[in-house]
Amino acid sequence: MTGRTVIRGGLVITASDELHADVLIEDGRIAALAAAGTSAAEAWTAERTIDATGKYVIPGGVDVHTHMELPFGGTFASDTFETGTRAAAWGGTTTIVDFAVQSVGRSLREGLDAWHAKAEGNCSIDYGFHMIVSDVNEDTLKELDLLVEEGVTSFKQFMAYPGVFYSDDGQILRAMQRSAENGGLIMMHAENGIAIDVLVEQALARGETDPRYHGEVRKALLEAEATHRAIRLAQVAGAPLYVVHVSAMEAVAELTRARDEGLNVFGETCPQYLFLSTDNLAEPDFEGAKYVCSTPLRPREHQAQLWKGLRTNDLQVVSTDHCPFCFVGQKELGRGDFSKIPNGMPGIENRMDLLHQAVVEGRITRRRWIEIACASPARMFGMYPKKGTIAPGADADVVIYDPQATQIMSAETHHMNVDYSAYEGRRTTGRVETVLSRGELVITEREYTGHAGHGVYTPRSTCQYLN
Ligand code: URP
Ligand code: ZN
Ligand code: ZN
Ligand code: ZN
Repeated sequence: MTGRTVIRGGLVITASDELHADVLIEDGRIAALAAAGTSAAEAWTAERTIDATGKYVIPGGVDVHTHMELPFGGTFASDTFETGTRAAAWGGTTTIVDFAVQSVGRSLREGLDAWHAKAEGNCSIDYGFHMIVSDVNEDTLKELDLLVEEGVTSFKQFMAYPGVFYSDDGQILRAMQRSAENGGLIMMHAENGIAIDVLVEQALARGETDPRYHGEVRKALLEAEATHRAIRLAQVAGAPLYVVHVSAMEAVAELTRARDEGLNVFGETCPQYLFLSTDNLAEPDFEGAKYVCSTPLRPREHQAQLWKGLRTNDLQVVSTDHCPFCFVGQKELGRGDFSKIPNGMPGIENRMDLLHQAVVEGRITRRRWIEIACASPARMFGMYPKKGTIAPGADADVVIYDPQATQIMSAETHHMNVDYSAYEGRRTTGRVETVLSRGELVITEREYTGHAGHGVYTPRSTCQYLN
C-alpha cells in the first residue's frame, strides 16, 4: 500500500500528448490526470505531494533489451539484476525485459527457471523475460507455446555466433512457423555468422588482432544480408519479425523496403549506434575494446540513416542491449585477439538522457522520445498501457525529468557495475530527478530510495503493435 501521491505543476509527456496536468497516484497506479489549477486537481488530497514545476512528468523508460549476468566468452556480464536494475532506475528506466538463455541440449524451461532465480528478490524495478532459443527441436517448439501462455511471448534467435547461440535457416523457419501460430514474436540477431567466422579467421591469420578489426569483419553487408534473409523467412512463415540492434544503414534499407511492401517487420536500434562509431573502436591502446559489441559500431555516415529510420518509423524502438563487461579483466581477455573480447556494452543508465539530448538537438520530438523509449517497446512486447504511458489505470511508473539540468556522463558517477563509461565526458542536457515504480519512490531528488526486491516479474501478453 503506497497511499496517495500527487505530482503537481509538471508538463506530462506521453507518446501522444503534452499537457500541463497534475497526476494523482493511488495504490501504485495512475488514478487520474487533471489540468493544473482546475478545481478537480486542487481538490485532491494526498499523503505526498511532488512539485514538478518546470519539469517533465514522463512514463518510466521501458528497456526491452538487457543482458544481466549473461555468460559470454568465458565470463559473465558484470551487472547483476540488483546492480543493473538500480542503475536503470537512476537513468529513468522502470521496466526491463532481459534475455533468459536456453543452453544447447537443455530445455527452455530450465533456462527460464535459472533467470527467474537470478532476478527474483533482487530487482529495484519491474522485469520481464524474453527467451534466447539456441536449440530448435520438437521439444523446444512445444515449449514455445507454453512460454507464450505464461507471459514469455518473444524469442531471440541468432544468425550469428556459430557453435554458441546460432540457429540455421531451417531452425529459424520452424520457430517462425510456430510463432505464427502461437502469437510469439521472433527477435532476430541478424548477422551472417558463418561468413563472419571465415573473415575473423582470415583477419587473425594476417595479424589483424586489434579491436577495430571486430568492426571490419562484421560487415554491414553481412548484417543487411541476414536482415533480408530473416525478413523473407518470416514472410514465408507468415510471422511478424523484430530485428534487434540494427546498426547498418543497409539493414535499415531492408526493413524499410519490407515495411513498404506491407510486411509486419520491426526494427530496434541502440544509443551506441546513434552516438558512437568505428572511430571509437579504433581508439589506441586497446581502448577500442570498450566498444566491441555485435552488431558492431559503424562508420559515422550510418547514424543519419538510423535517425531517419526513427523519424519515419521504419525503426520503432531504442533499447540498450545493455551487456557490460569491465575493461580490466574482462575486455582484456581479447588482448592480441579481437575475437576473444566479450561482446557487449554498458548503457542502461544512459538511454533516456541520450535520447533526450536528441530532443535538445532537434533530431526527434519530445513525444517521439517517449514513443521510442517507453510506449512502443511496451506495446511491442505486450505490456501497454500498464507500462509505457501515463494514463488512468497504468502502473505509476513515473519519472520527474529536469530538462534544463546538465550532466557529464562518467564512470566516476554512474551506477552501472562496470569500470568505464562508453560516453565518458559527454555533456548532456536533461536529468532524471525522481523516479517512481508502481507509486513507490525509487529515486528521490537524485538519491536512491528504492530497494532490491521491489521490482516484480511482469508476464506479458503477445505483441500489441500488430493489433
Ligand atoms: O554484443 C552484444 N550485443 N552482446 C550481447 C548479446 C547480443 O547479441 O545481443
Ligand atoms: Zn544480439
Ligand atoms: Zn543483446
Ligand atoms: Zn518496495
